[in-house]
Amino acid sequence: MRQVRALPDRALVVELGVWQGRSVLALAEACRGTAKRVFAIDPWADYDEGGGPVSGYLAQYGVTSFEEVYQAYRAHCRHLALDPWIVTVRAPSVETARTWRHGPVSLVFIDASHHYDAVSADLEAWVPLVRPDGIVCGDDWEWDSVRRAVEDFVARHPGHAIELPCDNTWAFVVKPR
Ligand SMILES: C[S@@+](CC[C@H](N)C(=O)[O-])C[C@H]1O[C@@H](n2cnc3c(N)ncnc32)[C@H](O)[C@@H]1O
Repeated sequence: MRQVRALPDRALVVELGVWQGRSVLALAEACRGTAKRVFAIDPWADYDEGGGPVSGYLAQYGVTSFEEVYQAYRAHCRHLALDPWIVTVRAPSVETARTWRHGPVSLVFIDASHHYDAVSADLEAWVPLVRPDGIVCGDDWEWDSVRRAVEDFVARHPGHAIELPCDNTWAFVVKPR
């Protein structure tokens, strides 16, 4: 929230992987009253992050379907009156990046599938859309697959130093082009 508040007005923020909205609603709260917008990108459909289809263990999160998760997210947006600062995109992250026409992104928060290949694909697709000196960050640094994907991406693209690892969250600043 502090990073988003520090962005200039009209800045664009993106979250990949929304679930019921906990982190995207925090990002949107930091935009309240400004011309900044948060794009909340998630297909809300079944996926596999290495342990079999996630639909197979939705019950442990107290839900029965991805549609129910989406409806809970929408209810949270309405309850907090944050709709004016959120653009919801119900589609996969990489597909959304391919058709992105909204301009340079100032901050992207990556929290979609934690599979190594998925995190790598999100980084390859979205980092080119982030403005120089913009922030690329995400959740679950403690996941081996996430950490390896971020470290390998930074190794493949020298200049993006991982600068701000913080507890379970990771981040780097996009190098000047
Ligand atoms: C760990 S949860 C996100 C948690 C959320 N950020 C929060 O604050 O609670 C992962 C989410 O990624 C979504 N997801 C899976 N594959 C995706 C993809 N290809 N693009 C975008 N989101 C995806 C899932 O539907 C799920 O809602």
